[in-house]
Amino acid sequence: MSIIYNEQDRSFTLQNGRIAYVMQLFHDGYLGHMYFGRALKHFNLQRAFYQTEREGAPNPEALADARTFSLDVLPQEYPTYGSGDYRIPALEATLSNGTTTLDLRYKSHEIFQGKKSLAGLPATFASDKEATTLEITMQEVGGELEVVLSYTIFDDVDVIARHATIKNIGSGTVYLRKAASLSIDFPEADFDRIHLYGKHAFERNIERTPLNHGIEISSSTRGATSHQHQNFLALCAHNADEFQGEVYACGLVWSGNYEAATEVNSFGNVRMTMGINGFDFKWQLKADESFTTPEAVLVYTADGFNAMSQHFHTLVQEHLVRSQHKDQLRPVLVNSWEAAYMDFTEDSIVRFAEDAVKLGAELIVLDDGWFGVRDKDNCSLGDWTEINAKKLPNGIKGLCDRIHGLGCKFGLWIEPEMVSPNSNLFRSHPDWALGVPNHIRQQQRNQYVLDLSRAEVRDYVVDSICEVLGSADIDYVKWDMNRNLTDIGSAAFPAEQQQEIVTRFVLGVYDIMERITSKFPNILFESCAGGGRRFDLGMLYYMPQVWTSDNTDEVCRQKIQYGTSLVFPPITMGCHVSACPNHQVGRSTPMLSRFICAMSGNFGYEMDLGKLSAEEQEEVKSHIALYKELRPTIQQGKFYRLMSPWEGTQNETAWQFVAKDGSEVVFMYFKNQCLPQGNIRKVRLTALDENATYKVTHHLFSPSLAANALDYLSNYNLEGDIFGGDELMHFGINMDKVDRDFAGHLLVFKKQ
Ligand code: DGJ
Repeated sequence: MSIIYNEQDRSFTLQNGRIAYVMQLFHDGYLGHMYFGRALKHFNLQRAFYQTEREGAPNPEALADARTFSLDVLPQEYPTYGSGDYRIPALEATLSNGTTTLDLRYKSHEIFQGKKSLAGLPATFASDKEATTLEITMQEVGGELEVVLSYTIFDDVDVIARHATIKNIGSGTVYLRKAASLSIDFPEADFDRIHLYGKHAFERNIERTPLNHGIEISSSTRGATSHQHQNFLALCAHNADEFQGEVYACGLVWSGNYEAATEVNSFGNVRMTMGINGFDFKWQLKADESFTTPEAVLVYTADGFNAMSQHFHTLVQEHLVRSQHKDQLRPVLVNSWEAAYMDFTEDSIVRFAEDAVKLGAELIVLDDGWFGVRDKDNCSLGDWTEINAKKLPNGIKGLCDRIHGLGCKFGLWIEPEMVSPNSNLFRSHPDWALGVPNHIRQQQRNQYVLDLSRAEVRDYVVDSICEVLGSADIDYVKWDMNRNLTDIGSAAFPAEQQQEIVTRFVLGVYDIMERITSKFPNILFESCAGGGRRFDLGMLYYMPQVWTSDNTDEVCRQKIQYGTSLVFPPITMGCHVSACPNHQVGRSTPMLSRFICAMSGNFGYEMDLGKLSAEEQEEVKSHIALYKELRPTIQQGKFYRLMSPWEGTQNETAWQFVAKDGSEVVFMYFKNQCLPQGNIRKVRLTALDENATYKVTHHLFSPSLAANALDYLSNYNLEGDIFGGDELMHFGINMDKVDRDFAGHLLVFKKQ
């Protein structure tokens, strides 16, 4: 891994032996982007940018005679508006003289080992041995702005991390209107565009479309990453699939408004940008003040989407999650929410826990409803220290101690960023909620959003939450956030800074997360935002796992978890078995299929296990025991998608986990709808040892699937069978034609 500046051709090359990222200075310090892709042994930079005259493309005055150089066609690193480039700018600002025309030129650069942290922001980290960083300082020709572009290349993962810091080096006041985290240009537009869209309870659906001329944007204006669009974008070759083909993907280490855009111009060049949403963004920079963008991460692979995901997964686990729980096996969790909602007492939760612990549960979580007078979702958010004495007469500590007495860990739900209109907090401090003068606030789930741009509000949240978390020996916290932002205004800031508030809110969230999580390093934190509203790289810096979706239906979950896995490793995904009929979609599916789907992540239950029949309880007990046996492979191994629920029949899904040392393979296959005389499905596994054989140690499938369950079991059960690694990868394995709906198969292979 190295970063080299070549004085002769004024180029910068970042490379780690597998990928390279090349930039070059042109003329008077224009910073061009020359290449990002597979590492090259030789690169004739003189011929890399094909300069030709383009009608309508402006030429810098000094070069006007030649007419072949224009910023409108030069592939660039951090483009601006007004100096000849008509494509999407990375930086927009109003300078103190009122102009929005910007022209950035190279000033200096620095190369160093390792990676700096970003003050107040989540970001990837790496030791001096693991990464090298380049900082290029650009200066606006008017002398008022300096922009430091930062690039880090990692040794163990094919990722470039980027961000920019914009500083006012003049004496007047500048307003930033947009500051992207990354901008990258590609010479050709022969790509498909992949993004993840969704809604509450159905997040991260995969959409793949050919790239179109003009601008396409996926974004959030909701103050959080959003259920609607993920802050991830990929461009891939038309023929790319899970196992081959070029993919360029980016993600943002950020949890607020963002935009991810592509533009194809009339010459077939592509620009991809990602960063804080320029919509409704205005940031005041007085003399000497600076603004640092969130970090963006850029992945390149020639080996398809599985390889892309491996890079993201490694980056998350090795360079983003800080929690001491990162490498620890996560406990089997049983959550009270769908079992009791807000209707519980200390005794009922202890009974709920006893039943769960008997079956193998390791962590009992008390969800919403334990504070103030909260029996419904219309009150008490903010009154964290007022423990509901009717439900919990002995406080959190009383319940926590009793759960610990069962030999089990205890967890608690909180929603610190919110306040109910009906709460003592709001009655005492109505100006602590975000709001705009003379406007009636919008409610969502009967709640307002706290103004976390204000230091005193943040201090209140930190103090009250720390008081609760310090009152008992709490092992786990589910940190929820159940609404989008509206009425985005703060009583503490002047008019000219009101458009900073939506960004300052997120910085405020990071501040309270930093303070609370670092005060309680032993607590395992799980981030949640009405399920998957804020499943993003920013949150994972503070909390090592996320509640993937409020939708626990096994069929929907195949799609949600498949889409989520494009960026996030299974160990970060909260996945629970819930009761049937399912509370979100009313569907009934076999317990085993629900288990196989939920065990493909950070496993738990979202139901009252004590209400199951004795037979079902035995089944749950065996499932939990099996999960514990396979947990190291699932949580710490590598994950591969094999069959997409979005493609082909759209009726089947398959994926697999391979243990770190390759000794165990856990394979899952789902077929949702039974069809008459169904096909025998041949599924090919991947990433096995071609020279080894693998023995099936477990084969689980719903016995009720077959008309004659016993025949089916004896004919089809593969336990004890031996297959070749090459056979499993190239011939595949026959999955039964399946005669019932919602089939799920689990096969465990041990390398011989
Ligand atoms: C939304 C979460 O996603 C649910 O799991 C649950 O915690 C509720 N909030 C509680 O209000």
